Amino acid sequence: MASEPLGVVGAGWVGLVTAASFAELGHEVVVRDVDPERVAALGRGDVPIHEPGLAEAVARNRDRIRFTLDLDELLGSVTAAFVCVGTPSMYSGDADLSAVWQVIDELPEPGEPLLLIMKSTVPVGTGERVRARLDARGLAHVGYVSNPEFLAEGTALANFREPDRVVVGGFAQADADRVAGLYEPLDAPIVRTDVASAEMIKLASNAALMTRISFINEIANVCELVGADVEEVARGVGLDRRLGPHFLRAGIGYGGSCFPKDASALKQLAANSGYHFQLLTAVIEVNELQKRRVVQKLQNHLGSLRGKTVALLGLAFKPHTNDMREAPSLVLAPRLLAEGAEVRAWDPVALDEARGLLGGVTFAETVLEAVRDADAAVIVTEWPELADLATAEVREAMRTPLIVDGRNLLDPVVARAAGFTYMGIGRPEAFVSELPETEEPDTTLRS
Ligand SMILES: NC(=O)c1ccc[n+]([C@@H]2O[C@H](COP(=O)([O-])OP(=O)(O)OC[C@H]3O[C@@H](n4cnc5c(N)ncnc54)[C@H](O)[C@@H]3O)[C@@H](O)[C@H]2O)c1
Repeated sequence: MASEPLGVVGAGWVGLVTAASFAELGHEVVVRDVDPERVAALGRGDVPIHEPGLAEAVARNRDRIRFTLDLDELLGSVTAAFVCVGTPSMYSGDADLSAVWQVIDELPEPGEPLLLIMKSTVPVGTGERVRARLDARGLAHVGYVSNPEFLAEGTALANFREPDRVVVGGFAQADADRVAGLYEPLDAPIVRTDVASAEMIKLASNAALMTRISFINEIANVCELVGADVEEVARGVGLDRRLGPHFLRAGIGYGGSCFPKDASALKQLAANSGYHFQLLTAVIEVNELQKRRVVQKLQNHLGSLRGKTVALLGLAFKPHTNDMREAPSLVLAPRLLAEGAEVRAWDPVALDEARGLLGGVTFAETVLEAVRDADAAVIVTEWPELADLATAEVREAMRTPLIVDGRNLLDPVVARAAGFTYMGIGRPEAFVSELPETEEPDTTLRS
């Protein structure tokens, strides 16, 4: 495959990973963003997001990647461009496509030949609407291919190199062939389909993953009531080849820049088309409730949280990222503050992002600083740094050695042997130690 210059519109997680990865494959890449600070930082070699290996990949390919604010510079250099702009939720729950429309409306007319390759996650029907808008603007020569992105933050570069599949949905065979050709060096299965189906594959994949998460979380909640251990249950279920082990980790729910908004967009897409998507509605509700169960668990052990200090360990929506979008910590911290608790928070990479989002919270630079004199430590994000939380040093630093493990990261036997009261999600509770003398604990599970 001959390398050709490629454009990338939007320098966020998807855009930067796409740019760095195609540059690694030998392409010249021009990246355009509308955020002057971001473009300036990238121009200096500063990658403004935390994604393992990304800064190194951008640096390695410095000679092949250019960053610009100027769309004309991109259009003057390439004949194919990936659209990687954000598609957040609107108040209505529908996807906000204003950045996508901005890209379309900024294209000059008449213009040079161009192929737009949509990587942003968009509702089914968007491709048809974009095609109609291009045609109405006299831009029939601009091609359009849907090529949804499936990367997971934290492992994004590896996901690009070894995708489970690449989905390509085109209106014109030649355009789809061209996009499929770009991925040829990866030797990945390519799903060639129509545009609407390509758009739906992305939404359906995310919905299926979320359904598994909410499913195992509900199993975990029942496990707590009947004395089973969800970790054992998930192991046994996951060995069934019809099911597989993935996305069966019980915890305090999913977050992030994709799942919540994509669930909402699919639910609204269905509703707008006259269908009530009951299962997805339940998946979303289970996830919302799951984030709050930590508060109940703390109350069960500490009684009222008024005046208690709770250490929130991990703030990003998942480990190995500084992405705070829809992170469970954004729900947990205000709920704890509302109950009168003092909240101290730690994260190895997301503190700067979190500061602007979590008013009333005190931030700690180290785990030890966060747990000092705390009445409870809550593992919110399963950072590897927390895997050995249950040490004598941490126990002695805490006022009450209580760990609520929202990600089932620790071994309960080890944590209890180290002198902690340990509660996971869907794991049997052992004896309760060291209850405060002044308040009666609430031992009813109020879920
Ligand atoms: N982040 C993920 O893990 C992930 C995974 C798969 C798919 N997606 C989808 O990919 C899309 C992008 O996600 P992201 O996380 O990279 O978003 P992001 O918010 O990190 O980045 C979007 C970027 O687009 C820029 N932008 C906005 N309007 C623009 C315009 N008109 N021209 C150029 N740049 C513009 C913004 O300034 C921003 O830098 C979304 O639709 C998302 O759902 C994201």
